[in-house]
Amino acid sequence: MRLKGKAAIITGAARGIGAAFAEAYVREGATVAIADIDMARAEQTAKAIGPSAFAIRLDVTDQSSIDNAIAEVEKRCGGIDILVNNAALFDMAPIVEITRASFDRLFNINVGGAVFTLQAVARSMIRNKRKGKIINMASQAGRRGEALVAVYCASKAAIISFTQSAGLDLIRHGINVNAIAPGVVDGEHWEGVDALFAKYENLAIGEKKRQVAAGVPYGRMGTAEDLVGMAVFLASEESNYIVAQTYNVDGGQWMS
Ligand SMILES: NC(=O)c1ccc[n+]([C@@H]2O[C@H](COP(=O)([O-])OP(=O)(O)OC[C@H]3O[C@@H](n4cnc5c(N)ncnc54)[C@H](O)[C@@H]3O)[C@@H](O)[C@H]2O)c1
Repeated sequence: MRLKGKAAIITGAARGIGAAFAEAYVREGATVAIADIDMARAEQTAKAIGPSAFAIRLDVTDQSSIDNAIAEVEKRCGGIDILVNNAALFDMAPIVEITRASFDRLFNINVGGAVFTLQAVARSMIRNKRKGKIINMASQAGRRGEALVAVYCASKAAIISFTQSAGLDLIRHGINVNAIAPGVVDGEHWEGVDALFAKYENLAIGEKKRQVAAGVPYGRMGTAEDLVGMAVFLASEESNYIVAQTYNVDGGQWMS
């Protein structure tokens, strides 16, 4: 019960990694807002987790949606102690085929969404005098470019940089900002990634997943559950002295 009595909001928690974090936070005693643009799935996920989880509609690209969601969580929980900036989209294309629409969509959601959700939650934490924890979801893709994944990689590098600046600014309010950089995590997200690689590298469906799994030093792709330990640690008081860091949780893929 390391998060007993805490109120958390996790963006993009209707499925995948965010849903696993929500379940783990509830197990550790928190109340969790499953904040997602997909309300039907968010409600299904909240119901499966139990009465300490509830769904709220959130589109991280829309400032009034962010403000309304935070007001709703404050109203239900009295304040916010933990934010996980998890919502993100993936896309890929060779440099000469990148479209402005894809760039705008990825940067609006992956970067703008994280920046302005963090800002709104930080304001709430400061207003309510809560020493909070903010966790941004980066990626191994933010550690190094990839030939066909330029925009997504750049969006995750931006998250690592923003985590550093926000971490340094907000610690004077007692708010810790850190990030997790997963490697390759199996789930619905990777079904989409695999299909895009199949198209651009002329592979059979499932072949890219097989290749990336074979390349992980640990010997397999990660699961959402593999990330839960770090997510709970960074949300708990055990991490009070950790500021502006990005942790790789990737089976040994990356060292930095
Ligand atoms: N799966 C991986 O291999 C992997 C690896 C590294 C990093 N990550 C990062 O981890 C995080 C979670 O990944 P995942 O695999 O669970 O992804 P996912 O695609 O399964 O889930 C993303 C969630 O975000 C929601 N979402 C999309 N747009 C939104 C918006 N505008 N507002 C609110 N919610 C929105 C979706 O409805 C979905 O529920 C992401 O930040 C991702 O970039 C994932």
